[in-house]
Amino acid sequence: MGGGKILGMLIFVVVIVSAAGGGGGEGGYGDNQQKKWWKWMSSSSVASSSVVNPVVSSSIVLPLYGNVYPVGYYYVQLNIGQPSRPYFLDPDTGSDLTWLQCDAPCVRCTRAPHPFYKPNNDLVPCKDPLCAALHHADYKCESPEQCDYQVDYADGGSSLGVLLNDLFTFNMTSGARIKPHLALGCGYDQLPGQSYHPLDGVLGLGKGKASIVSQLHNKGLVRNVVGHCLSGKGGGFLFFGDEVYDSSRIVWTPMAHDHMKHYSTGSGELIFGGKGTGLKNLFVVFDSGSSFSYLNAHTYQGFISLLKKELNGKPLRETKDDYTLPLCWKGRRPFKTINDVKKYFKHFALSFTNGWKSKAQFEIPPESYLIISSKGSVCLGVLNGTEAGLQNVNLIGDISMQDKMVIYDNERQTIGWSPANCDRPPKSSNMIM
Ligand SMILES: *[C@@H]1O[C@H](CO)[C@@H](O)[C@H](O)[C@H]1NC(C)=O
Ligand SMILES: *[C@@H]1O[C@H](CO)[C@@H](O)[C@H](O)[C@H]1NC(C)=O
Repeated sequence: MGGGKILGMLIFVVVIVSAAGGGGGEGGYGDNQQKKWWKWMSSSSVASSSVVNPVVSSSIVLPLYGNVYPVGYYYVQLNIGQPSRPYFLDPDTGSDLTWLQCDAPCVRCTRAPHPFYKPNNDLVPCKDPLCAALHHADYKCESPEQCDYQVDYADGGSSLGVLLNDLFTFNMTSGARIKPHLALGCGYDQLPGQSYHPLDGVLGLGKGKASIVSQLHNKGLVRNVVGHCLSGKGGGFLFFGDEVYDSSRIVWTPMAHDHMKHYSTGSGELIFGGKGTGLKNLFVVFDSGSSFSYLNAHTYQGFISLLKKELNGKPLRETKDDYTLPLCWKGRRPFKTINDVKKYFKHFALSFTNGWKSKAQFEIPPESYLIISSKGSVCLGVLNGTEAGLQNVNLIGDISMQDKMVIYDNERQTIGWSPANCDRPPKSSNMIM
């Protein structure tokens, strides 16, 4: 419990090496299983039955469950299949593919809250653009009627499977219920990462064509906008479309184009206690698949020396007797809530030149970077990204996005945020803020 996870970052989809190489490294089951799968699935695909009327200017709002600590992740329930069944998925803005643990049969699946997804026969063919979007440009189909995938996550976890189409059931804010056919991965071979957590799968919300919001957009159902509001009390909501916020109240900054895969902003500067720090040109990624936030080694070093300087003379001393996080402090008595300690810690922020008239600041108050451990110490929820294998990337994770609406507008290519009450999902347009 409480272990940080970095789900989406540095994700990439690799070509499943054909024949000899396939699965060799992990004991040689892969190739056989794939063939078995292929046989089992080889009957022709189910006709796509539901023609959905495009519902213009409506959105989808889904409640979120979980928290940063002690649960360590947020999750959303989606209803998938025919008849539809519920699944708990990890919403990940750092990756594109949505997949479920799948009884294909399952080679290796991890413990999950619901029975594994039973695949239908509606395979996504290899030539489908969605398949191409998940692979390198030079990907060669091993068998034209199916699209194999493998996703590797930054924490060492992975999912391997095949793409198929199935019905997703959503309630729109307009009141309409829609059942679009969307592509998802039937993951029949999962390896848990370091920060393994027991869910039915991942909800890919990245920028790519295969992401759920992009698929919904292509069917004319919502604008290609995804956002989330993570409550510091736990829970919150996730949304697709642009109906649940008032754009004029959001601080917007352009998405960086140089890093295609992830939601990132232009280069940022670390602001500490309202003052510039000279820690500049920070490459920043927004990743809901990560519980904690990360700064690269240089910036992290600078940040913790500023923090420690600030704590000089305060009744806090560093403690090593809480191993859930690397940097913690104890007071004279155990702390119960952040309120007991927030007077000792300053706000920090990331400031982005938004290319327009002003700078966009992403404020991070003590509540959004500190955690009270089970032992009553206060621990830093910002970690050394270089140590975690993120190289130079700075990553804004769930902890720092709490009590804010964070919006990824893929059509306008902007990222926006605003303080918000995330405790009650909005029922229809403009209910929030
Ligand atoms: C949609 O709304 C109905 C009625 O409020 C509810 O019973 C159902 O569970 C909802 N379905 C989904 C997929 O959220
Ligand atoms: C951060 O991690 C890097 C790489 O492991 C290490 O060299 C550096 O000392 C770490 N910085 C701090 C302040 O712990």
